[in-house]
Amino acid sequence: MAVKKIIIAIDGHSSCGKSTMAKSLAQELGYVYIDSGAMYRVVTLYALRNGLINNGVPDTKKIIGELKNIKITFKWDELAGKNTTFLNGENVEEEIRRLEVSQNVSPISTIAEVRHEMVKQQRENGKNKGIVMDGRDIGTVVFPDAELKIFMTASPEIRAQRRFDELNQKGVEVDFAEILENVEGRDQIDSNRKVSPLKKADDALILDNSNLTREQQLKWTLERVKEKTEGK
Ligand code: DC
Repeated sequence: MAVKKIIIAIDGHSSCGKSTMAKSLAQELGYVYIDSGAMYRVVTLYALRNGLINNGVPDTKKIIGELKNIKITFKWDELAGKNTTFLNGENVEEEIRRLEVSQNVSPISTIAEVRHEMVKQQRENGKNKGIVMDGRDIGTVVFPDAELKIFMTASPEIRAQRRFDELNQKGVEVDFAEILENVEGRDQIDSNRKVSPLKKADDALILDNSNLTREQQLKWTLERVKEKTEGK
């Protein structure tokens, strides 16, 4: 009998390890992994490169007009053991993680037309199930019928410290206070925007990982997957 494949939606605050968990989960299950945040980051990068964001204010009309020229794809990088994000065929995985993109992505993600286009592409990816997608509105808007929904969170200080360590490890010089401000600022915008605000779906399970290791989280989530696929 074929194993039942499901859709796993992982939502939550920024920098609480959603991508890391979603990636490990997909690898463990042999599922496709889609980082929906990377898609909003690609649009932001494109807008920055083309002078469509001035002093943090996006030129909404022009950005909407450019959406047709932004092709986002993902490829599994065997060597690095991770997903790589492409903008019109160019590998932009590193660039979309830079602070300048992080600082400008929230306003971009509040543009209804941008969201509409991203959601369309995200649903396309989930057609055949067997997918783990992480973001802010996956369980509420993109896949309201997902079989397993998880809402991840951790304290802002712990999240800022993790991002600080991650960037430091890559040799990027950063200021902790600036990172914390960015984390808290994004929480504010993500949770209060009019279109698809970050909010726990009624049927999502909460996973606060402030005091959990990656292994503990993965184990907990795999148990939840088992319950859904084996009907326990
Ligand atoms: O997960 P991340 O930090 O890479 O996300 C980048 C930004 O994109 C974040 O500010 C919120 C936004 N986002 C969103 O609005 N909806 C999603 N499904 C994923 C991300």
